[in-house]
Amino acid sequence: MRLSIASVLTVGLIAFSSASFAAGGAGQKITDYDFSFDGMLGAYDQAQLQRGFQVYEAVCSGCHGMKHVAFRTLADENGPGFSDAAVKAIAANYEVADDEGNPGDTRPGKPFDYFPTPDVGGNPPDMSLLAKARNGGADYIYSLLLGYTGEEKELGDVTLYENSAYGGYLNMAPPLYGDDVEYADGTDTSLEQVSADISAFLMWAAEPKLVERKQAGVWSMTFLIFFATLVWFTNRKVWAKIKHPENHS
Ligand code: HEC
Repeated sequence: MRLSIASVLTVGLIAFSSASFAAGGAGQKITDYDFSFDGMLGAYDQAQLQRGFQVYEAVCSGCHGMKHVAFRTLADENGPGFSDAAVKAIAANYEVADDEGNPGDTRPGKPFDYFPTPDVGGNPPDMSLLAKARNGGADYIYSLLLGYTGEEKELGDVTLYENSAYGGYLNMAPPLYGDDVEYADGTDTSLEQVSADISAFLMWAAEPKLVERKQAGVWSMTFLIFFATLVWFTNRKVWAKIKHPENHS
Protein backbone atom coordinates (compact mmCIF):
# COMPACT_ATOMS: atom_id res chain seq x y z
CA MET A 1 0.00 0.00 0.00
CA ARG A 2 2.68 2.44 1.05
CA LEU A 3 4.78 1.54 -1.93
CA SER A 4 1.95 1.91 -4.40
CA ILE A 5 0.96 5.39 -3.22
CA ALA A 6 4.57 6.46 -3.42
CA SER A 7 5.02 5.06 -6.87
CA VAL A 8 1.78 6.52 -8.19
CA LEU A 9 2.85 9.91 -6.90
CA THR A 10 6.32 9.59 -8.34
CA VAL A 11 5.07 8.57 -11.74
CA GLY A 12 2.53 11.41 -11.64
CA LEU A 13 5.17 13.94 -10.70
CA ILE A 14 7.56 12.80 -13.38
CA ALA A 15 4.84 12.87 -16.02
CA PHE A 16 3.67 16.27 -14.90
CA SER A 17 7.00 18.03 -14.56
CA SER A 18 8.80 16.63 -17.56
CA ALA A 19 9.33 19.76 -19.59
CA SER A 20 11.99 18.27 -21.79
CA PHE A 21 11.15 15.42 -24.06
CA ALA A 22 12.55 13.77 -27.10
CA ALA A 23 11.09 16.01 -29.78
CA GLY A 24 11.03 15.45 -33.48
CA GLY A 25 11.58 12.39 -35.58
CA ALA A 26 14.73 10.87 -36.94
CA GLY A 27 16.97 13.41 -38.66
CA GLN A 28 15.43 16.41 -36.92
CA LYS A 29 17.74 18.46 -34.74
CA ILE A 30 15.78 20.25 -32.00
CA THR A 31 17.48 22.46 -29.44
CA ASP A 32 15.98 22.51 -25.95
CA TYR A 33 15.82 26.27 -25.30
CA ASP A 34 15.37 27.43 -21.70
CA PHE A 35 12.03 29.30 -22.01
CA SER A 36 10.56 31.16 -19.05
CA PHE A 37 7.37 29.08 -19.40
CA ASP A 38 9.16 25.72 -19.15
CA GLY A 39 8.68 23.58 -16.06
CA MET A 40 5.94 23.25 -13.49
CA LEU A 41 6.01 26.84 -12.26
CA GLY A 42 6.92 28.48 -15.56
CA ALA A 43 5.14 31.59 -16.81
CA TYR A 44 5.28 33.77 -19.90
CA ASP A 45 7.65 36.70 -19.86
CA GLN A 46 5.47 39.66 -20.82
CA ALA A 47 8.33 41.74 -22.24
CA GLN A 48 9.43 38.77 -24.35
CA LEU A 49 5.89 38.27 -25.70
CA GLN A 50 5.75 41.95 -26.67
CA ARG A 51 9.08 41.62 -28.49
CA GLY A 52 7.91 38.40 -30.14
CA PHE A 53 4.78 40.11 -31.35
CA GLN A 54 6.94 42.84 -32.85
CA VAL A 55 8.79 40.15 -34.83
CA TYR A 56 5.50 38.60 -35.93
CA GLU A 57 4.19 41.94 -37.09
CA ALA A 58 7.39 43.02 -38.84
CA VAL A 59 8.24 39.72 -40.54
CA CYS A 60 5.98 36.65 -40.19
CA SER A 61 2.60 38.38 -40.66
CA GLY A 62 3.54 39.06 -44.28
CA CYS A 63 2.88 35.38 -44.99
CA HIS A 64 1.36 33.72 -41.90
CA GLY A 65 -2.10 34.60 -40.53
CA MET A 66 -3.43 33.89 -37.02
CA LYS A 67 -7.12 33.49 -37.67
CA HIS A 68 -7.98 32.13 -34.20
CA VAL A 69 -6.24 34.95 -32.32
CA ALA A 70 -8.28 38.10 -31.63
CA PHE A 71 -6.42 41.40 -31.35
CA ARG A 72 -8.04 42.06 -27.96
CA THR A 73 -6.24 39.05 -26.42
CA LEU A 74 -2.95 40.93 -26.86
CA ALA A 75 -4.02 42.83 -23.74
CA ASP A 76 -4.15 39.64 -21.62
CA GLU A 77 -2.31 40.00 -18.34
CA ASN A 78 -0.80 36.52 -18.60
CA GLY A 79 -0.03 37.25 -22.24
CA PRO A 80 1.65 40.23 -23.92
CA GLY A 81 -0.27 42.67 -21.70
CA PHE A 82 -0.46 45.53 -24.20
CA SER A 83 -2.54 48.53 -23.15
CA ASP A 84 -6.01 48.91 -24.66
CA ALA A 85 -4.80 51.91 -26.64
CA ALA A 86 -1.88 49.89 -28.05
CA VAL A 87 -4.24 47.04 -29.02
CA LYS A 88 -6.51 49.50 -30.86
CA ALA A 89 -3.54 50.87 -32.77
CA ILE A 90 -2.24 47.38 -33.61
CA ALA A 91 -5.66 46.24 -34.86
CA ALA A 92 -6.02 49.33 -37.03
CA ASN A 93 -2.74 48.39 -38.78
CA TYR A 94 -4.41 45.34 -40.33
CA GLU A 95 -7.01 45.23 -43.08
CA VAL A 96 -9.76 42.75 -42.26
CA ALA A 97 -12.74 41.54 -44.29
CA ASP A 98 -15.64 43.99 -44.08
CA ASP A 99 -18.67 41.76 -43.64
CA GLU A 100 -21.05 44.71 -43.95
CA GLY A 101 -19.66 45.89 -47.28
CA ASN A 102 -19.47 44.21 -50.66
CA PRO A 103 -17.68 40.85 -50.94
CA GLY A 104 -13.94 41.52 -50.94
CA ASP A 105 -14.24 44.87 -49.14
CA THR A 106 -11.87 45.45 -46.25
CA ARG A 107 -11.69 47.89 -43.36
CA PRO A 108 -9.08 48.60 -40.66
CA GLY A 109 -9.18 46.03 -37.84
CA LYS A 110 -10.85 46.60 -34.45
CA PRO A 111 -9.86 44.94 -31.16
CA PHE A 112 -12.62 42.31 -31.47
CA ASP A 113 -11.41 41.20 -34.93
CA TYR A 114 -9.07 38.29 -35.60
CA PHE A 115 -5.69 38.43 -37.31
CA PRO A 116 -6.28 38.20 -41.06
CA THR A 117 -4.73 35.62 -43.35
CA PRO A 118 -2.48 37.18 -45.99
CA ASP A 119 -3.05 36.12 -49.57
CA VAL A 120 0.30 34.62 -50.57
CA GLY A 121 1.48 31.49 -52.35
CA GLY A 122 3.27 28.50 -50.87
CA ASN A 123 0.59 27.68 -48.29
CA PRO A 124 2.23 29.11 -45.19
CA PRO A 125 0.44 27.45 -42.24
CA ASP A 126 -1.78 29.56 -40.00
CA MET A 127 0.13 30.46 -36.84
CA SER A 128 -2.70 30.34 -34.28
CA LEU A 129 -1.94 26.77 -33.26
CA LEU A 130 1.37 26.17 -35.02
CA ALA A 131 3.43 25.88 -31.83
CA LYS A 132 1.16 23.05 -30.67
CA ALA A 133 0.80 21.44 -34.06
CA ARG A 134 4.48 20.55 -34.23
CA ASN A 135 6.41 18.16 -32.01
CA GLY A 136 8.73 20.20 -29.83
CA GLY A 137 6.50 23.29 -29.76
CA ALA A 138 8.40 26.49 -29.12
CA ASP A 139 11.71 24.59 -29.11
CA TYR A 140 10.92 23.36 -32.62
CA ILE A 141 10.14 26.82 -33.98
CA TYR A 142 13.27 28.23 -32.34
CA SER A 143 15.36 25.42 -33.84
CA LEU A 144 13.73 25.86 -37.25
CA LEU A 145 14.60 29.55 -37.36
CA LEU A 146 18.22 28.74 -36.51
CA GLY A 147 18.36 25.51 -38.48
CA TYR A 148 18.99 26.69 -42.06
CA THR A 149 22.08 24.99 -43.45
CA GLY A 150 22.45 27.26 -46.49
CA GLU A 151 21.75 24.39 -48.92
CA GLU A 152 19.06 25.09 -51.52
CA LYS A 153 17.51 23.17 -54.35
CA GLU A 154 15.13 24.03 -57.16
CA LEU A 155 11.97 22.02 -57.71
CA GLY A 156 10.24 23.31 -60.82
CA ASP A 157 9.98 27.04 -60.15
CA VAL A 158 10.14 26.81 -56.34
CA THR A 159 13.29 27.04 -54.28
CA LEU A 160 13.52 24.74 -51.28
CA TYR A 161 15.78 25.40 -48.32
CA GLU A 162 17.48 22.76 -46.24
CA ASN A 163 16.79 22.97 -42.52
CA SER A 164 18.17 20.70 -39.80
CA ALA A 165 15.16 21.11 -37.50
CA TYR A 166 12.72 20.42 -40.33
CA GLY A 167 14.83 17.40 -41.22
CA GLY A 168 14.86 18.14 -44.94
CA TYR A 169 13.96 20.91 -47.37
CA LEU A 170 11.07 23.32 -46.91
CA ASN A 171 9.50 26.04 -49.00
CA MET A 172 10.32 28.96 -46.66
CA ALA A 173 13.44 31.05 -47.15
CA PRO A 174 15.16 31.93 -43.86
CA PRO A 175 12.77 34.60 -42.51
CA LEU A 176 15.16 35.99 -39.90
CA TYR A 177 18.81 36.98 -39.97
CA GLY A 178 19.17 38.96 -36.73
CA ASP A 179 18.70 42.75 -36.53
CA ASP A 180 15.32 42.25 -38.25
CA VAL A 181 13.64 44.61 -35.79
CA GLU A 182 14.70 47.27 -33.33
CA TYR A 183 13.55 46.64 -29.76
CA ALA A 184 12.33 49.61 -27.76
CA ASP A 185 13.56 47.99 -24.52
CA GLY A 186 17.13 47.75 -25.80
CA THR A 187 17.23 43.92 -25.86
CA ASP A 188 19.82 42.66 -28.32
CA THR A 189 18.50 41.60 -31.71
CA SER A 190 20.79 38.66 -32.42
CA LEU A 191 19.26 35.89 -34.50
CA GLU A 192 19.07 33.72 -31.34
CA GLN A 193 17.22 36.43 -29.41
CA VAL A 194 14.63 37.35 -32.06
CA SER A 195 14.07 33.63 -32.73
CA ALA A 196 13.47 32.93 -29.04
CA ASP A 197 11.10 35.90 -28.78
CA ILE A 198 8.92 34.95 -31.75
CA SER A 199 8.86 31.31 -30.59
CA ALA A 200 7.66 32.38 -27.14
CA PHE A 201 5.00 34.59 -28.73
CA LEU A 202 3.75 31.74 -30.92
CA MET A 203 3.57 29.44 -27.88
CA TRP A 204 1.39 32.02 -26.17
CA ALA A 205 -0.78 32.35 -29.29
CA ALA A 206 -1.31 28.58 -29.34
CA GLU A 207 -1.79 28.20 -25.60
CA PRO A 208 -2.81 31.48 -23.96
CA LYS A 209 -4.02 29.68 -20.81
CA LEU A 210 -0.73 27.85 -20.18
CA VAL A 211 0.00 29.69 -16.94
CA GLU A 212 -3.49 29.14 -15.51
CA ARG A 213 -3.29 25.47 -16.49
CA LYS A 214 0.05 25.04 -14.72
CA GLN A 215 -1.24 26.76 -11.59
CA ALA A 216 -4.24 24.45 -11.54
CA GLY A 217 -1.86 21.51 -11.99
CA VAL A 218 0.28 22.55 -9.05
CA TRP A 219 -2.85 22.89 -6.90
CA SER A 220 -4.08 19.44 -7.76
CA MET A 221 -0.62 17.94 -7.13
CA THR A 222 -0.52 19.62 -3.73
CA PHE A 223 -3.96 18.28 -2.93
CA LEU A 224 -3.03 14.81 -4.12
CA ILE A 225 0.07 14.72 -1.90
CA PHE A 226 -1.94 15.98 1.07
CA PHE A 227 -4.67 13.43 0.44
CA ALA A 228 -2.21 10.55 -0.03
CA THR A 229 -0.51 11.43 3.26
CA LEU A 230 -3.87 11.46 5.01
CA VAL A 231 -4.77 8.07 3.57
CA TRP A 232 -1.44 6.67 4.66
CA PHE A 233 -1.80 7.81 8.27
CA THR A 234 -5.43 6.69 8.45
CA ASN A 235 -4.44 3.34 7.05
CA ARG A 236 -1.73 2.90 9.71
CA LYS A 237 -4.07 3.88 12.49
CA VAL A 238 -6.86 1.55 11.41
CA TRP A 239 -4.57 -1.44 10.98
CA ALA A 240 -2.48 -0.77 14.08
CA LYS A 241 -5.16 -2.31 16.33
CA ILE A 242 -5.51 -5.39 14.18
CA LYS A 243 -1.82 -6.00 13.61
CA HIS A 244 -0.72 -5.27 17.17
CA PRO A 245 -3.74 -6.06 19.42
CA GLU A 246 -1.44 -6.45 22.46
CA ASN A 247 -0.86 -2.66 22.49
CA HIS A 248 -4.55 -1.84 22.54
CA SER A 249 -6.15 -4.20 25.02
C1 HEC B 1 7.75 35.01 -47.49
C2 HEC B 1 6.73 34.28 -46.78
C3 HEC B 1 7.04 33.80 -45.37
C4 HEC B 1 7.47 34.54 -44.30
C5 HEC B 1 7.80 36.03 -44.24
C6 HEC B 1 7.54 33.63 -43.18
N1 HEC B 1 7.16 32.37 -43.57
FE1 HEC B 1 7.09 30.71 -42.40
N2 HEC B 1 6.44 29.61 -43.98
C7 HEC B 1 6.22 30.10 -45.25
C8 HEC B 1 5.78 29.00 -46.09
C9 HEC B 1 5.43 29.12 -47.57
C10 HEC B 1 5.76 27.84 -45.28
C11 HEC B 1 5.40 26.41 -45.71
C12 HEC B 1 6.70 25.72 -46.03
C13 HEC B 1 6.56 24.27 -46.41
O1 HEC B 1 5.62 23.63 -45.95
O2 HEC B 1 7.43 23.79 -47.19
C14 HEC B 1 6.16 28.26 -43.96
C15 HEC B 1 6.24 27.42 -42.87
C16 HEC B 1 6.59 27.80 -41.59
C17 HEC B 1 6.60 26.92 -40.43
C18 HEC B 1 6.19 25.46 -40.41
C19 HEC B 1 7.32 24.53 -40.74
C20 HEC B 1 6.85 23.11 -40.63
O3 HEC B 1 7.26 22.42 -39.69
O4 HEC B 1 6.01 22.69 -41.45
C21 HEC B 1 7.01 27.68 -39.37
C22 HEC B 1 7.18 27.22 -37.93
C23 HEC B 1 7.23 29.01 -39.86
N3 HEC B 1 6.97 29.05 -41.20
C24 HEC B 1 7.64 30.06 -39.06
C25 HEC B 1 7.82 31.36 -39.52
C26 HEC B 1 8.19 32.46 -38.66
C27 HEC B 1 8.42 32.37 -37.16
C28 HEC B 1 8.25 33.57 -39.45
C29 HEC B 1 8.59 34.98 -39.03
C30 HEC B 1 9.84 35.15 -38.32
C31 HEC B 1 7.93 33.15 -40.81
N4 HEC B 1 7.66 31.81 -40.80
C32 HEC B 1 7.92 34.01 -41.90
C33 HEC B 1 6.38 31.40 -45.67
C34 HEC B 1 6.84 32.44 -44.90
